[in-house]
Amino acid sequence: MFKALMMEQNDEGLASAVIKEIDESTLPDGDVTVAVEYSTVNYKDGLCLSPKGGGLVRNYPHVPGIDFAGTVEASNDDRYKPGDKVVLTGWRVGEMHWGGYAQKARVKADWLVPLPAGLTPAQAMAVGTAGFTSMLSVMALEDHGLTPDKGPVLVTGAAGGVGSVAVAILANRGYEVAGVTGRPESGEYLKSLGATQIVAREELNETVKRPLEAETWAGCVDAVGGAMLARVLGQVKYGGSVAAVGLAGGAGLPATVIPFLLRGVNLLGIDSVMQPYDNRLRAWERVAKDLPMDKLEAMVKPATLTDLPQLGADILQGQVQGRVVVDVNA
Ligand SMILES: NC(=O)c1ccc[n+]([C@@H]2O[C@H](COP(=O)([O-])OP(=O)(O)OC[C@H]3O[C@@H](n4cnc5c(N)ncnc54)[C@H](OP(=O)(O)O)[C@@H]3O)[C@@H](O)[C@H]2O)c1
Repeated sequence: MFKALMMEQNDEGLASAVIKEIDESTLPDGDVTVAVEYSTVNYKDGLCLSPKGGGLVRNYPHVPGIDFAGTVEASNDDRYKPGDKVVLTGWRVGEMHWGGYAQKARVKADWLVPLPAGLTPAQAMAVGTAGFTSMLSVMALEDHGLTPDKGPVLVTGAAGGVGSVAVAILANRGYEVAGVTGRPESGEYLKSLGATQIVAREELNETVKRPLEAETWAGCVDAVGGAMLARVLGQVKYGGSVAAVGLAGGAGLPATVIPFLLRGVNLLGIDSVMQPYDNRLRAWERVAKDLPMDKLEAMVKPATLTDLPQLGADILQGQVQGRVVVDVNA
């Protein structure tokens, strides 16, 4: 038996969380059984914890948690043996397949990555999907020519999970970083992560009036989408790129194509869920190298399984600062 947070549906089809002892035989099929140590809370976890599952959860009862890190307990796959430390992000685990909000998980070996040298399971979950995606974004921007001498880099939704890690990685790599936040009280926090300029959300929230504005940003990691992404495209310097990561401000894109045509701006799509294994390894190795652990620790709040329903609601309201590390055994 082990402890899990289960989402169970009522007669109206609305789901709520219950913490239960469940039997190992109820775990889904998979090649590797992992004793989970830590999980975390991403925006998607907030959706999976919500009464309608955010359109992501199809079958109940369900164990959410899109990320976990822990130790292999049993394996039918040659790549993993008992005692190995592993991390999982993506592959629709926690959405379609039972996830990390439990003391045990069973998954396909293909979905796992060995825990990168230099990271503990708790640190890997402080990074989680949000931080892993920030790393993918910085890698994509640099693959498209971004270097610190090109000028400042903008991070939107900066005090959130993706944003916080992106700020810390970029600043550590020598970039001048500007963070957009709707929470003025997060200014000092963002400066402590390495941002040198704070941009108020209202300054970028309005829809595009002029397709091109002053060339300001050499690049951008955008966790917000919507009107803000459209505005940012018109402010990117000639040949610069925007990594489109999220939709915290909306899935629409009320933009014009003018920045692409007249300034050669690149809009780079970032997906963390289906990244091939080699890219995952490369990104995790870069995280271990490029993200200062003291900055990571400064953005983390600890939590337990019982805190998750509230944290899920909070993250959907944009009210979680930085990253949460969930100790599933506490
Ligand atoms: N592409 C991928 O593979 C991938 C991976 C991970 C996450 N994501 C997406 O990235 C986004 C961020 O994820 P996260 O885990 O970092 O969530 P998060 O911690 O909630 O961060 C989102 C941040 O966006 C800002 N924000 C919220 N509502 C806003 C609004 N209406 N207008 C403008 N800004 C708003 C807030 O930052 P401030 O308080 O600083 O303004 C908030 O903290 C989500 O949409 C998520 O689904 C995508």
